[in-house]
Amino acid sequence: MCGIISYIGKSNATQVLLNGLKRLEYRGYDSAGIAVNDGPHNSFVILKSVGRVETLAEIANQKKMQGSVGIGHTRWATHGEICEVNAHPHCSSDGKIILVHNGVIENYVPLKNFLLKEGFSFKSDTDSEVLCNLIAYHYGRLHALMPSKRFLESVRTSLLEVQGTYGIVALCKDCPQEMIGSKKSSPLVLGIHEDELFLASDVGAFAGHTKDAVFLDDNEIIHIQGKNFSIQDFSNVPISPNVETIDWDVNFTHLGHYSHYMQKEIFEQPAALDNTIRGRFSQDDSTAHLGGLRMSAHELRQVDRLLLLGCGTAYNACLVAENLIERYARIPVEVECASEFRYRNAPLEKNTLVFVVSQSGETIDTLAALRESQRKGFRTLAITNVVGSTIARESDGGIYQRSGPEIGVASTKAFTGQVCTLAMLALYLGRMRGMSFSEGCNFVSALKSLSTLASQVLDACDTPIKSLAEAYAHYEHFLFLGRQILYPIALEGALKLKELSYIHAEAYPAAELKHGPIALVDEKYPSLFLATDPLLLPKTIGNMMEVKARKGKVIAIGIEGVEIPSKAYDDIIYLPQMCEAILPIITVLPLQLFAYYVALERHCDVDKPRNLAKSVTVE
Ligand code: G6P
Repeated sequence: MCGIISYIGKSNATQVLLNGLKRLEYRGYDSAGIAVNDGPHNSFVILKSVGRVETLAEIANQKKMQGSVGIGHTRWATHGEICEVNAHPHCSSDGKIILVHNGVIENYVPLKNFLLKEGFSFKSDTDSEVLCNLIAYHYGRLHALMPSKRFLESVRTSLLEVQGTYGIVALCKDCPQEMIGSKKSSPLVLGIHEDELFLASDVGAFAGHTKDAVFLDDNEIIHIQGKNFSIQDFSNVPISPNVETIDWDVNFTHLGHYSHYMQKEIFEQPAALDNTIRGRFSQDDSTAHLGGLRMSAHELRQVDRLLLLGCGTAYNACLVAENLIERYARIPVEVECASEFRYRNAPLEKNTLVFVVSQSGETIDTLAALRESQRKGFRTLAITNVVGSTIARESDGGIYQRSGPEIGVASTKAFTGQVCTLAMLALYLGRMRGMSFSEGCNFVSALKSLSTLASQVLDACDTPIKSLAEAYAHYEHFLFLGRQILYPIALEGALKLKELSYIHAEAYPAAELKHGPIALVDEKYPSLFLATDPLLLPKTIGNMMEVKARKGKVIAIGIEGVEIPSKAYDDIIYLPQMCEAILPIITVLPLQLFAYYVALERHCDVDKPRNLAKSVTVE
């Protein structure tokens, strides 16, 4: 979703901003812009373009701007269509203030009406331009103050008047060597490197420049003046910065020999899964070590119920975990979309432990669910991938999934990392309750075999799935069917296919087929069956036959050595035998490859599917 990068230093700001915007591309966006101090009398030049950052770079490079202060933004449209006028940065109608904004200003209509009466005009349909003009209004009103103080005060006063969410960076024409940033429920982080400062929505935007960062908290304002900065709250109380060293791989944006990030991330799964489990098992006790939960065994044994919350793929990971935790730890689990939970005022039992699951750690609905659960007094833990993300910082503890940066918008290695992390949680909780030592040993061995097995399956499936994708890419509808622990994998397979290829795909528990979806089945409506659960296989085969009887094509994912009659399917992919606990992680791999290759066949942009964003920071 929208991304921010700003720079103040000695280098060419245009190049720093364009590189930063390229690094933010993975979040999903539809237009981009920069403002750099390169005009007459050190004024700011604003350049914008619709579409990719390369287009903006072509325009900017022709200008040969030399300025060393600037702000940049990638926009994912919320208020107003995708066009240059609605792209950021915005400039106030009096020309004094320039602003980039992530988030949504909810009370923008009354504010806009007020500002129109005060003589301000608007070019765009955005809520962000309203905030920009509001800052300019206060700047005008506070003329008795010196420019620097006046700039800070005008931002502070304006932010007290807006409702909604924001991560902002503002520039002021009268103070060209200064910038002001602030945040509320939308991330903003300062990067510090000698005489250079960066303000960005994401540490990745200044990767390669510095690893020293200060994550701003809500309701803090940062004022940068040349190479100095100060942070304060809304009552002007100074806040001492907590400088953290970020551990990142600056090469994460390199594709290597892969054609797409999604392909790279699918094939990174063996290594990523190894990372997730590394150092987290105790062989002696056949359990997991999850110290980040910050809860004693005694406290964890008091837990009567778990509530798992997430959005999109993370929600599907929670559904897999419901099955794993109930089965192996015998603790009742509820799963809910974070976006629904936050408004539902659900009655929760006293000893409920809440987990929020979010790859980015920034999804606004998941963050709001975390805060709602904490407000009600529940201990709320998090499973996230991004170290230092807002959810990681605000939770009462948690587990980092350590899957490494994920650039492709459609989640792959983050999903298997989430399921693997939740499986370790099932083991940990199980071993504190009824799970025996030998069951624990088997569980640990299964998780340890994941990496090798994932590697084997990806290598073996790649070519056959590519051929399958070629044969099925022309269909416009798909059913995905699975049972029990594989039903969420059917959901995830359908989600991947629709996200990437825009094919209409639905998922059902296989036995539900005859309660509705079978009405859709004909020769134009193929079904993909997850037939890897040995216990219910005879029933699943029955469902496959029902589809075949109605001329529906059937693709089956089966297990080597477990026979499925050939008349029950048209095409089949076999997976090796494995322990049930890791079945969901391995079974999703061919579905990820299938969605990837079908999307390629249909000439879709696999890494940046239309309308989707990687990090959803608006409701
Ligand atoms: C967006 C992404 C999905 C992701 C979901 C939750 O919708 O496109 O791929 O699953 O957000 O993201 P999170 O970062 O909270 O896991």
